[in-house]
Amino acid sequence: MVTIKDVAKRAGVSITTVSHVINKTRYVSDDLTESVYKAMHELNYRPNTLARSLRSGRTKTIGLVIPDISNLFFAEVSRKIEDKGFEYEYSVILCNTDDDPKKEKTYINVLLEKQVDGIIFISAGGTEENLMNPIDFGIPTIVADRDIQGATSDVVLVDNLKGGYDAVKYLFSLNHRRIGCISGPSPVTPSAQRLEGYKKALSKVNIKIDNLLIETGDFRFESGERAMRNLLKLSNPPTAVFACNDMMAMGAMRAVSDCGMNIPEDISLIGFDNIPLSKSVYPALTTIAQPIGEMADLIVEMLVTKISQKKNNRKSDAEADDYKRVVMETKLIERGSCKKLS
Ligand code: RIB
Repeated sequence: MVTIKDVAKRAGVSITTVSHVINKTRYVSDDLTESVYKAMHELNYRPNTLARSLRSGRTKTIGLVIPDISNLFFAEVSRKIEDKGFEYEYSVILCNTDDDPKKEKTYINVLLEKQVDGIIFISAGGTEENLMNPIDFGIPTIVADRDIQGATSDVVLVDNLKGGYDAVKYLFSLNHRRIGCISGPSPVTPSAQRLEGYKKALSKVNIKIDNLLIETGDFRFESGERAMRNLLKLSNPPTAVFACNDMMAMGAMRAVSDCGMNIPEDISLIGFDNIPLSKSVYPALTTIAQPIGEMADLIVEMLVTKISQKKNNRKSDAEADDYKRVVMETKLIERGSCKKLS
């Protein structure tokens, strides 16, 4: 097996120099760095990351726990987090829990066994029990997107209630008064808060909540399709619908088309998330945008800071009981799926 000693000999430098080049722990001139990488390539040398981790106490890996990778919102968030993590020379281990708290618990244990340096946790909708493990182990952790009661860690969310409120306020501005809502899974905070925003906007203009106009989905395409079919069957159907995420909005679009109707001529539709696909469907989906890129960057920057605090044995925010709670703004993106009523 090729060792670091062989590389040093081939490159004509000391073992220490090779180590500094690999671990970037000290400046090495471009020429010597080039010689070391050339020797590593020619000898097909692979650094022993386990040994390096034992020495440095870091694996330069981050665990990312998400509920559903088939949801394009999480695919985009994961991509942005991975991009930002790479900038900080971290590898990201993606754990897809399929909205299952049991699978989530298994993955948390896998990440602890792999001694990740930090965890970004988007809950499957269960309790905070699975989150407590990494925190009890002192693993820097950021709770993202879905709030968790009693979470003793930094939290990064968006203002879901205001986003839901703004969606309905926009439909009011287009003279819609009979507005349906396709909500997501109730145990999940973003869904509950968006639905609350919908109700708050209706109450603001003294429109009575009609529960026939509220359908519950699961944030997936098929549930949006099913919910819209139910709404269109009503004797007095809505003239507009607020879907609590873009995936369900696209399912709703399918149902409208299958019923031989058109968006926005026959019914208006607004979504939530602003996934990249939302601008490419026809008609392009009007939606409430989450700041996906900015949120991913902030989450990674906050986590890397916490990891460094821990590494430098500085009192981390967690030990100082000083958790950050960041709530980011959403934004209305007006496209072609909503029409003004005369
Ligand atoms: O589309 C999936 C939804 O679940 C998003 O709105 C996001 O906020 C997540 O909670």
